[in-house]
Amino acid sequence: MTHVNGYASIQVDSLTPHIGAQVSGVNLDKELSNEQFSELYQAWLDWKVLVFRDQHLDAEQHKAFARRFGTLHVHPMQHSYGGDPEILRVRTTKDSKYTAGNGWHTDVTCDEIPPMASALYIKETPEHGGGDTLFANMYLAYDLLSDTMKSLLENLTAVHDGALPYLGNYKVAPPEGDAYPKNEHPVIVTHPETTRKVLFVNSGFTSHIKGMHPFESKALLQMLFDHIGRTHRLTCRVAWQPNTLTLWDNRCTQHHAVWDYFPESRYGERVSILGNSRPAA
Ligand code: SIN
Repeated sequence: MTHVNGYASIQVDSLTPHIGAQVSGVNLDKELSNEQFSELYQAWLDWKVLVFRDQHLDAEQHKAFARRFGTLHVHPMQHSYGGDPEILRVRTTKDSKYTAGNGWHTDVTCDEIPPMASALYIKETPEHGGGDTLFANMYLAYDLLSDTMKSLLENLTAVHDGALPYLGNYKVAPPEGDAYPKNEHPVIVTHPETTRKVLFVNSGFTSHIKGMHPFESKALLQMLFDHIGRTHRLTCRVAWQPNTLTLWDNRCTQHHAVWDYFPESRYGERVSILGNSRPAA
């Protein structure tokens, strides 16, 4: 990790040159000062993924931290999971048939307005290690494409289907058939705060590109998913310890929860923050 200069009220150490930073000098169970929050907000925009170690939060403190960023998001299928509608529990045990997020994705892009951020608080890690989460920088994924590919993608729109994680990665029927949301977003979007361009398709939710034959859409998406999955320089890796909270900018990243710890268990709680507007070109 490398110390990043320019912060007075928090300490920021980068995980890689372009994505991921560990933040220290803050206790998220306490209300952050305006200076701390504004530095944290800038660090979040700059580093996209912020890791906070050794935090001791109850559910209300976790939500209060997330609420500083905006209105909390309720997962479209939360009613079928039960519990607090603003907390998504991520639990994997020896009996799990799949683990949520085990594949490259951006959270809930099937929503008309997907979350702008998620704050995952891991409480229990596998006894013998593993269970890291990979994050990828979607600004860089866009930047690394050729100008020719960028101009082809510029005018395309993709469909994001909430049933896809079940039918694709998880290989089980969605809890409520076709009740999941399905929405369209541009393939290249502009981040509403940084104004940088982002490659905005993900193998978790993007089913097809509009206006193309199925074989064309499939090949184009597969090429982009391969680019995201195989370009290691897009990524950083968060190795969790119990009581680590990671906050990511869901508008310019993807993540992949690695299920390499079967039959051991892992448990965490995710709170997501609603975006302010639909993803736009
Ligand atoms: C998720 O996709 O939000 C879950 C990520 C994880 O469990 O690491």
